[in-house]
Amino acid sequence: MVKKSGAYNGSSNYIVTDELRNAVNIAIALQKPLLIKGEPGTGKTMLAQSIADSMGMPLLIWNIKSTTKAQEGLYVYDTVQRLYDSQFGEGDVGNIKKYIKLGKLGESFLADEQVVLLIDEIDKADLEFPNDLLWELDQMSFYIPETRETISAKHRPIVIITSNAEKELPDAFLRRCIFHYIAFPDAEGMERIVKVHHPNLDRRLLEQAMETFYMLRNIPNVQKKPSTSELIDWLQALVVGGINPSKLKQELPFLGVLLKKNEDLDTLLSQLYGKNQNRGSQVNVHGNINRYYR
Ligand SMILES: Nc1ncnc2c1ncn2[C@@H]1O[C@H](COP(=O)(O)OP(=O)(O)O)[C@@H](O)[C@H]1O
Ligand SMILES: [Mg+2]
Repeated sequence: MVKKSGAYNGSSNYIVTDELRNAVNIAIALQKPLLIKGEPGTGKTMLAQSIADSMGMPLLIWNIKSTTKAQEGLYVYDTVQRLYDSQFGEGDVGNIKKYIKLGKLGESFLADEQVVLLIDEIDKADLEFPNDLLWELDQMSFYIPETRETISAKHRPIVIITSNAEKELPDAFLRRCIFHYIAFPDAEGMERIVKVHHPNLDRRLLEQAMETFYMLRNIPNVQKKPSTSELIDWLQALVVGGINPSKLKQELPFLGVLLKKNEDLDTLLSQLYGKNQNRGSQVNVHGNINRYYR
């Protein structure tokens, strides 16, 4: 960890645009949650880690699932354990505090130092979820009726919320956040990102791989376009497989690292080879594939 500086300055393993860095710093200054949207693989989750690294703060991650309820982020009262203890004569069942387990938001409030709290993939939960957290995120405190305790943030956490935009978020929630959309990186930005992960890549391999990658993203009707993380993995596969860069564009080795859906592989093959042709004819491949390279 680095020394605390009060502002986010990026980190060596994370490429950040000026706009994104500014959005982070505005959210910190205004003490508002930062809502980050963008396609999967555009570095939303990793941003929170980068902020924590850059500011020398611990990172707490609350992973949201379709079944997650807002309450779980505050605390849960483990009545089952208490019942168990009362039946088997274990523990001090009169001490309800013992059975109150703080969630990630609760933990972030009671941490001894300021932390970065990542609420990851908020759009996975139901529509009520963001609204149910408004008060706690505004006030940075909540009440536990079982113990008649109020938990207030010792240090206001830096809250980063990510969304893959599967669902629209409620207006009341959006109003309270600073918003930033991470656009899919252009080739230049992508090259910088790739170099963080593969600093010593053969120039020509990178060039050919990037062209192929963007070509695949250009093919219409691909449901799950390959993302940054898939490009990074693909490059690794190409290096390990000792692939000759000059063959890469036409042979598309390890395609399964980039396209993960059968339908997408079918879409690609039918675009490249034509619906009624089978995969043997290299002549046709060349003719068709070149349409998609810019
Ligand atoms: N700006 C970036 N700088 C460095 N690596 C990145 C960047 N964006 C994405 N990556 C790479 O892509 C992977 C996926 O990023 P992630 O944060 O999980 O995306 P998201 O949460 O948006 O789906 C990361 O593990 C990292 O390897
Ligand atoms: Mg993520």
